[in-house]
Amino acid sequence: MAGPGNQNSQRKPTRREFIRASAAITATLAATNSPFGIKAYAAAELSHSPLFLPPFLSRPTERSIFISALNNNQPSEAVIEVRKENATDWERRGPAQKVPEYAFFNWDVPNLSPAARYEYRVLVKRASDETFASASNGSFRTQRKGPASYKAVLITDPHTGTFAETTGPVQTLDKVIRNASQENAEFVLALGDNVAWAGSREYAQTNSRGAVSAYALYRKHIGPLTQNCPHFGIIGNWAGESGKFPEASIRMISGVRQTFLPNPNHETYPQGGSEREDYYAFSWGDVLYVMLNVQTYSKPSKPDQLPSLMADVNTIDEWTIGEAQMKWLEKTLQHATERFRFVCMHHPAGGNAGDVPNTLYGRGGARACNTGEQVRIHNLMKKHKVQIFFYGHDHVFVDDIVDGIHYALPGSCGAPWKFTKEETGYERFWPDSGHARLDVTPEKATVTFINLEGKEIHNFSVLPA
Ligand SMILES: [Fe+2]
Repeated sequence: MAGPGNQNSQRKPTRREFIRASAAITATLAATNSPFGIKAYAAAELSHSPLFLPPFLSRPTERSIFISALNNNQPSEAVIEVRKENATDWERRGPAQKVPEYAFFNWDVPNLSPAARYEYRVLVKRASDETFASASNGSFRTQRKGPASYKAVLITDPHTGTFAETTGPVQTLDKVIRNASQENAEFVLALGDNVAWAGSREYAQTNSRGAVSAYALYRKHIGPLTQNCPHFGIIGNWAGESGKFPEASIRMISGVRQTFLPNPNHETYPQGGSEREDYYAFSWGDVLYVMLNVQTYSKPSKPDQLPSLMADVNTIDEWTIGEAQMKWLEKTLQHATERFRFVCMHHPAGGNAGDVPNTLYGRGGARACNTGEQVRIHNLMKKHKVQIFFYGHDHVFVDDIVDGIHYALPGSCGAPWKFTKEETGYERFWPDSGHARLDVTPEKATVTFINLEGKEIHNFSVLPA
């Protein structure tokens, strides 16, 4: 497998790109002063902490993890220290990082042991401080291999960046994050529309301000979870990376995403994936998770004749993950040795909903299994014994089964729009907000839908292939 400890040295160009993007974002952060802007809520809420955004965990492998945190409003130095659970001594990893105000600290922490729980702490020394002091801490487990028992959580569609800070949808997100944090999950899968901002699905972006603000808010609100639980994200249709936009615009917004929400890239896991961190796969215990991107590769044939600004395609046959991703998906499933296989995408690469606009918009879950390119994906899942297709987009809890494959949608963790049967076509659904818990054991994997009040509203189990 790709040696996680060597990632920095192998990825120098990406690193330089990353630093350039980081500098641009720092400038944007400093300049942003909208009601949702960084400085506005920095002054109001977080000025007491040397970190503007708490540590965020991503790319956990057997031997490493990536931890990022955003510095607050003074030039600072920071170091990261780790220790195995129950150990007494902290080990400092690497030299101190020195960054200006509102810039990211990024740590690739190597030389960890597989399937082990670690604690970490971030020590910060601001320009005005004499010594380093603990600014934040958390814990995580490194990647497991082979049959094991563990929990994961799934969330989707908070549309963070759309709603003012104290409004209902943001309170819903905070509550779901509190509930999900209590599960002691080993990672979280975020199935898309994690962020959204005015115009992000309608118009190509000409600057990164909206994305920076939305991603910063997302990091802030999921912080209590992702400080202790690595995050695996998926692109949704509001993420500003639709294939209907020019490549330069997509690239700019994906740079913001990669800075705020690092994902695995093509080198993180042996399964590979995309350099742009928009599709990838990883195993955890005896489960393969394949995370796909249907948004960026679908292009309308007649962009000037889209039925509405919210549409991304002219016909449902234009939904596609693209040939390169399709080939990679096929190869990844062919080589899978894990007995559980789950595929995740924001919505099927097709549509079959309650009405024509919602069908074109990719709604309908399992009802869409025999439409557009979802036919190919569904047949691949059937052939390679995939048990669950997890998706988002429709904002209600759904569990439908086709050919033995569960099409499971874990509700919404923020978006308040609960689509009806007339819109989605679902015969059975739960309009609650909430999250899903995944309990994996060597014998079975169980998905439980949990609403805002913490009540279990539905569950199902699948058996190993
Ligand atoms: Fe969506």
